[in-house]
Amino acid sequence: MGGAARCYTASPEETLSGPLRPVIAEQGALTRGLVAIGCVEDAPPPLGGLSPELARLAGQVVESRGWTGKTERQLTVSASDGAVTVVLYGLGPSRELEHPRVKRWLDRVAGDCAAAEAPELLVVPPVHRVLGTPAGAATLLRQVALLGYAFDEYRKPSRPALRRVRVLPPVRGEGVYRGARKTAAAVARGITLARDLANTPGNRATPAWIAGRARALARRIGARAQVHGPRELARLRMAALLAVGRGSANTPRLVRLEIGTHGPAVALVGKGVTFDSGGISLKPGPAMDEMKYDKAGACAVLGAVQAVAELGLPVRLRAYLPLAENMPGGRAFRPGDVVTTRSGKTVEVLNTDAEGRLILADALTLAVEEGPEALVELSTLTGATVVALGHHGAALYSPDDGLARTLLRAAEDGGERLWRMPLWPEFREEIEGRHADLRNLGGKWGGANTAAAFLAEFMEGCESWAHLDVAGTAWHPGEPGPLFGATGFGVATIVNWLLATLDAG
Ligand code: BES
Ligand code: MN
Ligand code: ZN
Repeated sequence: MGGAARCYTASPEETLSGPLRPVIAEQGALTRGLVAIGCVEDAPPPLGGLSPELARLAGQVVESRGWTGKTERQLTVSASDGAVTVVLYGLGPSRELEHPRVKRWLDRVAGDCAAAEAPELLVVPPVHRVLGTPAGAATLLRQVALLGYAFDEYRKPSRPALRRVRVLPPVRGEGVYRGARKTAAAVARGITLARDLANTPGNRATPAWIAGRARALARRIGARAQVHGPRELARLRMAALLAVGRGSANTPRLVRLEIGTHGPAVALVGKGVTFDSGGISLKPGPAMDEMKYDKAGACAVLGAVQAVAELGLPVRLRAYLPLAENMPGGRAFRPGDVVTTRSGKTVEVLNTDAEGRLILADALTLAVEEGPEALVELSTLTGATVVALGHHGAALYSPDDGLARTLLRAAEDGGERLWRMPLWPEFREEIEGRHADLRNLGGKWGGANTAAAFLAEFMEGCESWAHLDVAGTAWHPGEPGPLFGATGFGVATIVNWLLATLDAG
């Protein structure tokens, strides 16, 4: 980044589908299309964005229906000429309002927009503490920018395009909202990149392809990129990464990106299993297609790197992406195999489906060797995390209370949920090896915690590290709809965390 911070602006064609650019609206603004007004129970609905005629009409309807803004309720008011539909959305009591509820509201708005085929949208947030801060405003603006996101690379457009979005800042909030636009746009573009990459199916998104996208990103932002193929991986003694990739014709890669020349040295590591069949310990059939998202950690790291570059943050950022496809095959690694990781520690493979921790072991060792002041790793590591937290939050593991606290805060401000989980020594005992130093499988219960204990073995020498298990939050499963597919979870948390850390330092 050199002396003055360099700013990078993405051009729209660099992502498959660029996010929308929310325009800050004026009081009294009126659009064609949908006006989505967020209402808390204990304050009058913010009707200032409407024309006097519509505001009067809305006021009357609110009164006659006894509208109170209870959660999940909504009230529709149409103008006489039918050009504008105003929808009031209940957000419940102020004291319960947090970003996840705001996000849920906007997701409903996205659905209503699609159903109404509205090309334009005006979002009117309520006056509220969590939406009035710079971080809160950036989160809302980013979520509005992403309302138009769809992954239509392989199909005709899935729904009518939302062409224009505007946001009416709360009273006296205009400066804060204007100031938050740059961060919001950079994070929205980072999330878009992360989603596009993670949504790309395994037949296209092979380790080599993801490495190519990382190279292209590096070129755009002026980062240094190194891509190591199988021969160099052998030279780097990354036998665990090689073992996982051995069953696939799509050979593994390790990507290392480097950007920034001053500021704290920060390492980001992301699990990049481009498809996880389970290998010889084959997964059951149902929903196996979802394992194309098993590279989501690596994709989120790429999105975060792009956003950090675009914002010109003064940080020496290093990203490490172990990329492999986990397949059964005649050359595949097998249960019982012992591999020697780059760290020198040997691992007994008891289940080839516990592959994430293996490829991460080698990448973490390399990252730690380079002496970062902090290291954050993201992975869709365990089904057990989904059992524990459902799809509503990611698991956070860290031995460093300070880092954990700033990450929790950064996530909260960014509308993503993290929940801290334990690194108790009992979990380490479960992965003690018999014919090797370690085994890659713990006991029946607490699988997310034994996986974290395994990763911790490869953090030795780094005081300040965090592991985020994003297995439940990296994608929305299910049926087609505005939310289906990769979420880009983690990009916002990483960017907010860096913003907060650099600010404090
Ligand atoms: N990629 C999976 C974890 C996963 C499963 C993420 C479901 C999201 C949804 C990982 O590689 C895996 O297979 N983990 C195993 C570990 C087990 C064999 C110890 C799991 O969680 O079942
Ligand atoms: Mn697996
Ligand atoms: Zn996996």
